[in-house]
Amino acid sequence: MKKIWIEDIKNYENKEVVLQAWLYNKRSSGKLHFLQLRDGTAEIQAVVFKGNVSAEVFELADKISQESVVEVKGTVKKHDRSKIGYEIDATDVKVISVANDYPITPKEHGPHFLMEHRHLWLRSLKQKAILNIRHTIIKSVRDFFDSHGFTLVDAPIFTPNACEGSTTLFETDYFDQKAYLSQSGQLYMEAAAMAVGKAYCFGPTFRAEKSKTRRHLTEFWMVEPEMAFADIWDDMDLAEEFVEYIVAKVLENNRQDLETLERDISKLENIKRPFPRISYDEAIEILHKKGNDTPYGEDFGGDEETLISEEFDKPVMIHHYPMSVKAFYFKQAENDKAACVDMIAPEGYGEIIGGGQREEDIDKLMAKIKEQNLNPETFDWYLDLRKYGSVPHAGFGLGIERTVAWICGLHHV
Ligand code: 4AD
Ligand code: MG
Repeated sequence: MKKIWIEDIKNYENKEVVLQAWLYNKRSSGKLHFLQLRDGTAEIQAVVFKGNVSAEVFELADKISQESVVEVKGTVKKHDRSKIGYEIDATDVKVISVANDYPITPKEHGPHFLMEHRHLWLRSLKQKAILNIRHTIIKSVRDFFDSHGFTLVDAPIFTPNACEGSTTLFETDYFDQKAYLSQSGQLYMEAAAMAVGKAYCFGPTFRAEKSKTRRHLTEFWMVEPEMAFADIWDDMDLAEEFVEYIVAKVLENNRQDLETLERDISKLENIKRPFPRISYDEAIEILHKKGNDTPYGEDFGGDEETLISEEFDKPVMIHHYPMSVKAFYFKQAENDKAACVDMIAPEGYGEIIGGGQREEDIDKLMAKIKEQNLNPETFDWYLDLRKYGSVPHAGFGLGIERTVAWICGLHHV
């Protein structure tokens, strides 16, 4: 018999079906047991009425433990008050697999306990909603770049290059040499952009982040587009079009998931271009006005990002930071500023995008590599990109987990 998934139940109104599912909750009152079933695609309630089933089945239904797998036979009935719009009038119930003492009960659990049981916690309806939204985000990332003339080029994970500074490198023993886990595919995308014009990579990246924050992971996914013949302004145009697209796709496909997460949807509906753009200098002014005394010339941390984002109800792009606080590869702009941009999500979710225009001048680039104490030998190939047909080019990286946290309205990545 063809497996019937709960999400397809509308096709079976008034028909008899057999469903296999996990029991995630249960309620009883006298002659009725209400079994809350989930099969991963959706949830539905099965009503076990004493008059409709054998005495054994009625007794069994009373005893089924949480997360046991059941097979329920019954008729699909319209039920407007349920989320899915239907329920099952059960005529038979079998237990396929018994789960005893499932650790995550419907009562509240602390975050530590839940993290320890992450493999089971995934099954909860909120965690499932997050997985669904992450899926939409990842699909829309690919759809966006695929439909904008970008070629997917996978960057290596083992690399000799420190793209984002040497303090957050995960070192591995690579036979007789050292290799690092990739912090970013950017340098490889710069090479790829010179071959295909517009390239992107999308994969796991690693940072040995010592600080334990709500925003920092040691392993996260990043998508990194890179365009030849593009400057910092083209980069910002692309970034805002891209983020607007992702949010629109989640609103289109995941309304119910957002509701499950109790996300304020109106805040997401507001994410439309143009996004505000402010310079680092303007950002410092905002901070000082708000009583934050970050000295001019210093980088921003999470607190500063939150203070700045409070001024806007859309993601804000902060551009042209001082060269001294940014990575070696940024193009030097006027007044020793870097042609860089960070996109800060609204509602205090912090930086979701970092990127900018790359230095195309080989001498300036070489000087930066030395200044930041990076090993010039490992950058030979990278410098070749400036020797042979150097062009203005720009790109950015968007962190998936932070984007998911923002769109879902989660406290923690
Ligand atoms: O600003 P970052 O470090 O930029 C780069 O890696 C560039 N090479 C990207 C490029 O231009 N191709 O990181 C980019 C984004 C951040 O804005 C953030 O969303 C995410 O990656 N990110 C992290 N997410 C979770 N945990 C961490 N430790 C992260 N570090 C960066
Ligand atoms: Mg950054």
